Amino acid sequence: MSAMENNFTSIKGRKILLGVTGGIAAFKAASLASLLIKSGAEVRVMMTAAAREFISARTFQELTGQPVSTEMFGEVSNYRVEHIALAKFAELVIIAPATANFLAKAAHGIADDLLTTTILATTAPIMVAPSMNDRMLANAATQENLETLRRRGFEIIEPDSGHLACGTSGKGRLPEPEELAAQINLHFERLKARKLEGKKIIVTAGGTIEPIDPVRYIGNRSSGKMGFAIAEAAHRHGAKVLLVTAPSVLKNPYGVEVVRVETALEMHDAVLKEYETCDGVIMSAAVADYRAKEIADEKIKKTDETLTIELEKNPDILFELGQKKDKQILVGFAAETSNLEAYAAAKMKQKNLDMIVANDVTIAGAGFNADTNMVTIITRGSMAEYFPLMPKTELAELIIKRFEKILMGRQ
Ligand code: PMT
Repeated sequence: MSAMENNFTSIKGRKILLGVTGGIAAFKAASLASLLIKSGAEVRVMMTAAAREFISARTFQELTGQPVSTEMFGEVSNYRVEHIALAKFAELVIIAPATANFLAKAAHGIADDLLTTTILATTAPIMVAPSMNDRMLANAATQENLETLRRRGFEIIEPDSGHLACGTSGKGRLPEPEELAAQINLHFERLKARKLEGKKIIVTAGGTIEPIDPVRYIGNRSSGKMGFAIAEAAHRHGAKVLLVTAPSVLKNPYGVEVVRVETALEMHDAVLKEYETCDGVIMSAAVADYRAKEIADEKIKKTDETLTIELEKNPDILFELGQKKDKQILVGFAAETSNLEAYAAAKMKQKNLDMIVANDVTIAGAGFNADTNMVTIITRGSMAEYFPLMPKTELAELIIKRFEKILMGRQ
C-alpha cells in the first residue's frame, strides 16, 4: 500500500512516539513504524537496551528517517534534554511490545532508562501493547500492574491468543501491526469527536497566599477542589490544559500540565504568559485582593499590643484578561455572601466575561473546601441557571459543557 491508500486516515499528521521494549515481538514494531509512516504520521522511536538485543536501532532509523533514541546518558544529537523533548513532542506514546518488566516499572513510577523516564515526563495519552509468555501475563503481579496503569488512564491493547515464541500456546501475542495501527487510528478518531480537541485552556485553582514575613501569610480557605475538578473535566473533553494553582494538597491531575504558584502576582504572571495562545481561561482561584506593602525580612516580634500591616492592591487578573481579550472565552467565579445574582452579573460585566459561576459561600456544603457546591451560572445573553447542591466533579462537567457551547457558537 502506498502513502494514503490505507484506512488509517486519522493518523495523518500525528506525532507518535513508538517505544520498543525487549520482547521477541519487537520485530513487529518495525512493521508498525512503517505503517504509521505510510499513514502520514511523524514517528520517533525509543528503544530499551533489551529491545536492541532483538532488533537493531538502524532498522527504525531507516524506516522513520529519524535518529532512534536509546541511551539516557548517551550522546544526544538532536534534542537538548531528550526525554523531555520527546515527551513534549508526542501526541501519543505507544509501547509495542510492552514487556512484563516495562509494565512493572511504569506502574511503580520507576525511571531507570530513557523510555521509563519519558513515560513519567509526558502528558500525552499512552497506549501499551503487552506481549509476553501466557503465564507471565496471567501472573497476579502483571495483572495488578496492568490494572494500575488502566486506572491511571493508560489504554491497554489486549494481547492476542495463539502460538507463543516459547513453544506453548496461550494469550500473550502482540497483535499484528495492522491491528495496532487500527487501534491507534481509533484513538485519534475518538479524539476528534471530543469538542475541546486541539484547544488550550488555562484553569486557575486554590487560594493565593500573601507573605507578611518569612513565616506568616494572609490566605483564604480555598482547597483547589473546584479548579482541579474543572481541569480534569477539560482534559477529558480533549483540551490541552494548563492548571495554575495556588497551594493545594491535591495531586496533579493526570494529563494536565500544572504550574504551582503562591502569590497573586505569581499567578498573574503564569496566566498572562500563556494567555495569548490559549482559547479560554476559567478562573476558579480565590485570588487575594491585597498583599502586604512590605514583607518583613525577619519574623515580626510581638512587641506591641497591636500590629498594623499596610496592604496594597493586587492586580485583578481576570479584569486584565477581559481588557486584553481577543478570541479567548473567559469564565469567572463569584464568591458571594449575599445578593448572589446581582453581584455576579455586575462582575461579569465589569470583567468582560462570557460566563460567571456564582456560589453563595455561606451555604453549608457550598464554596470553600467542600466536595460539593451550589451555584448559579450566568452566560452572556442567556437567563441565569440555578443548580442544586452537587459534587464539584459533576459541576465541573456542567461548566465545561457550557464552555463548549460558547465555543461552538463562535465557530
Ligand atoms: O477551592 P475550593 O475549596 O474548591 O473552593 C472553590 C471556590 C469557593 C474558591 C470557588 O468556587 C470560587 O468561588 N472561586 C472564586 C473566588 C473569588 O475570589 O471570587 P471573587 O468574587 O473575589 O472574584 C471574582 C473573580 O475574579 C474570580 O474568578 C477570581 O478568580 C477573579 N479574581 C479576583 C481577584 C483578583 N485579584 N484577580 C482575579 O482574577
